Amino acid sequence: MTILVTGGAGYIGSHTCVELLNAGYDVIVVDNYYNSVPEVLNRVEKITGKSLKRYECDIRDRQGLEKIFGENDVDAVIHFAGLKAVGESSQLPLLYYENNISGSVTLFEVMEKYNCKKIVFSSSATVYGNNPIPYKETMTTGDVSNPYGRTKHFIEQILGDVYKADNEWSISLLRYFNPIGAHESGLIGEDPNGIPNNLMPYIARVAIGRLPQLTVFGGDYDTKDGTCIRDYIHVVDLAKAHLCAVAKILEGTGIDAYNIGNGVGYSVLDIVHAFEKASGKKLNYVIGDRRAGDLPAFYADATKANKELGWKAELGIDKMCEDTWNFQTKNPEGIK
Ligand code: NAD
Ligand code: WQD
Repeated sequence: MTILVTGGAGYIGSHTCVELLNAGYDVIVVDNYYNSVPEVLNRVEKITGKSLKRYECDIRDRQGLEKIFGENDVDAVIHFAGLKAVGESSQLPLLYYENNISGSVTLFEVMEKYNCKKIVFSSSATVYGNNPIPYKETMTTGDVSNPYGRTKHFIEQILGDVYKADNEWSISLLRYFNPIGAHESGLIGEDPNGIPNNLMPYIARVAIGRLPQLTVFGGDYDTKDGTCIRDYIHVVDLAKAHLCAVAKILEGTGIDAYNIGNGVGYSVLDIVHAFEKASGKKLNYVIGDRRAGDLPAFYADATKANKELGWKAELGIDKMCEDTWNFQTKNPEGIK
């Protein structure tokens, strides 16, 4: 079985490639390395002792994609490629709509042309917007406050329409909660360009001394310690969810959304303290103002993924922090 992985050199994609190769799939990565480096794929090969096929190609490049689908017999696609910085998406909405939505539509058109109608799509818990917690797949989606989140919602809707028009498609929409952690080898992990937007890479860079101090965004929320609550999920657990989703889409047809989270909420300070324990370092932090657009608390009801995909998160926040720290200490300047 051959799985084409768009964005396979990125953070979640690379961990998924490891799991796919370990499970015996043939893997083809398509990435333009906008937010990653080819060395990541060498490391995926090193971890697994297996090789993958790689194409440097933008998913908006129809001819490039047609060449790849023409040269290979692709059984299914896992579609990670996209831009993901929430704040940047408000400043550069057209870039986000063009890259994420136009790129996805081009990919779906080429898949259809080559009769490959099985896809797992990287969606996000952000599509739920301001719903009661825990989030369930039955809730209304789309009340989203930023262009990045809207691209996820629109792509889900587009895939819904694609399925309505042609019931031969088999589609899995995975709504990730907050992925953190790294492969336990320390060879791959999250390595954002510039100053990180997300909590865990920011903490890791403070701990290693590349950034002076963490600002905790808000200490006056109506939560147990005043800081925001999120559902953090180990990236390896998340990668494994893709294997379960691929098995499901290969079996039949249909479209389904699944929450991929732990189902447990941790506060920002829970994460800070777990990281201190894992690293043995005292973290320099201050409580600052709230960040615009942050919801006080959300976490997943992940029972549907458990029932229908046979998937459940297994790794807790201590392991998430240990693996992040291991990756950070082994790659203090990131992956070059
Ligand atoms: P990432 O930036 O590490 O990986 C994305 C990869 O896609 C990168 O390697 C990048 O170079 C590539 N890419 C981007 N645009 C491309 C294009 N036009 N053509 C080809 N390649 C392109 O991000 P990630 O954290 O691994 O996220 C993967 C997917 O999961 C994204 O779609 C993201 O929106 C989604 N997601 C991420 C999170 C998260 O917190 N990390 C949460 C929910 C959903
Ligand atoms: C986590 C918590 C911050 C940085 C985002 C996207 C979401 C999904 C995952 C893609 C929040 C706090 C953060 C810092 C802090 N991505 N924080 N200081 O905002 O929950 O979700 O990434 O789909 O769509 O919105 O993740 O890691 O940015 O923040 O106090 O320097 O950490 O306020 O409570 P978020 P995050």
